[in-house]
Amino acid sequence: MALRDILTVPDPRLKLVSQDVERVDDALRALMDDMLETMYAAPGIGLAAIQVGEPKRVIVMDLAREDEPPQPRYFINPQILWASEETAPYEEGCLSVPDIYDEVERPAQVKLRYLDYQGETVEEDAEGLYAVCIQHEMDHLNGVLFIDHLSRLKRDRAVAKVKKQKAA
Ligand code: NI
Repeated sequence: MALRDILTVPDPRLKLVSQDVERVDDALRALMDDMLETMYAAPGIGLAAIQVGEPKRVIVMDLAREDEPPQPRYFINPQILWASEETAPYEEGCLSVPDIYDEVERPAQVKLRYLDYQGETVEEDAEGLYAVCIQHEMDHLNGVLFIDHLSRLKRDRAVAKVKKQKAA
């Protein structure tokens, strides 16, 4: 396993639409292992492949609390089959927009279909933090960042702040 560099705004690769995975093989599992290690080291709770420069529809996640054992999750070619009309706000952050947090409103519950680490199809309902995180990460697969849900002023300010931190 190896740590990968995490892209940050305004890297244009973060705007790419990622491609479906055709085969779940050892090379893909090696990428997912690297992504998980990179996410834990950051530390973060979710990471999409494009954040390490791979435009593939792959996400890793771990929502376990600090006092719980790790619960790594892997999502390949995820789809949202259904989203609730009810929405909920959550203060989001992103490893590609470091140190910026703001409230985003998203459907409170979603039904998902994806392939897991072994390439098996899984269907699952998500709510709470799980629903927030999977929708945030799936946005990455379509080149959308959480700051794209904010006003233009807030978005521009966030990108400027990250650029300034990087230059410092
Ligand atoms: Ni993110």
